[in-house]
Amino acid sequence: MTNALYIDCCIRGEQSRTKQLAEAFLTAYGARESIQIERLTLMDEPIVPLQNGFFWQREKLLEHGELDHPRFRYAHQFQQAERIIIAAPFWDLNFPALLKIYIENVNVQGITFDCNEQNGCFGVCRAEKILFLTTRGGLMEGSAMDNGTKYLGDMAKFFGIARFEYIAADGLDLGLEPVEMILGRAFAHALETAKTF
Ligand SMILES: Cc1cc2nc3c(=O)[nH]c(=O)nc-3n(C[C@H](O)[C@H](O)[C@H](O)COP(=O)(O)O)c2cc1C
Repeated sequence: MTNALYIDCCIRGEQSRTKQLAEAFLTAYGARESIQIERLTLMDEPIVPLQNGFFWQREKLLEHGELDHPRFRYAHQFQQAERIIIAAPFWDLNFPALLKIYIENVNVQGITFDCNEQNGCFGVCRAEKILFLTTRGGLMEGSAMDNGTKYLGDMAKFFGIARFEYIAADGLDLGLEPVEMILGRAFAHALETAKTF
């Protein structure tokens, strides 16, 4: 059995095209006998940024090696997953801030990464692959302004996760092509990926 973690940051919920793309992938992926999917809907979680007392509590817990504190549950869950799927739309040349706040909470020394004198810092996550599913209003494929995909690829490396893949439906708000046509291509790509991911 392969344990996959699905991280849903599709803020517009049922109206979200990214969510539609993710659900198409998850239906095909979850139909595989050997795959078990755990869902984490960020919009339903009490996730807050590192600031004030919440920041200092973290420093204190890390200093005392108290890594089993409930606030680190997201980091443990992320570290243990064998596959990770993230779905988020393209917002303001990046992904929504909620996903960054989640990453802040997951990035914990001693859980998802470690450091030593010999190797510097290195990821210790179990997953072999991360898949990022996104939809974008403009044509961002290959653009240096697509900060979200680049950042998540860098974080995958940081977490020690060897492969980072993404599927993007581009240009949904430009009116150059029917939305159904653009999404159809992304769905086909997602269904193909679900066979081997
Ligand atoms: C708050 C917000 C910011 C956005 N910023 C951008 C942007 O910087 N560039 C872009 O191409 N599209 C941008 N868009 C358009 C979305 O990327 C596009 O509509 C996407 O398909 C939305 O995904 P969703 O249907 O899953 O919510 C933005 C949309 C919203 C709501």
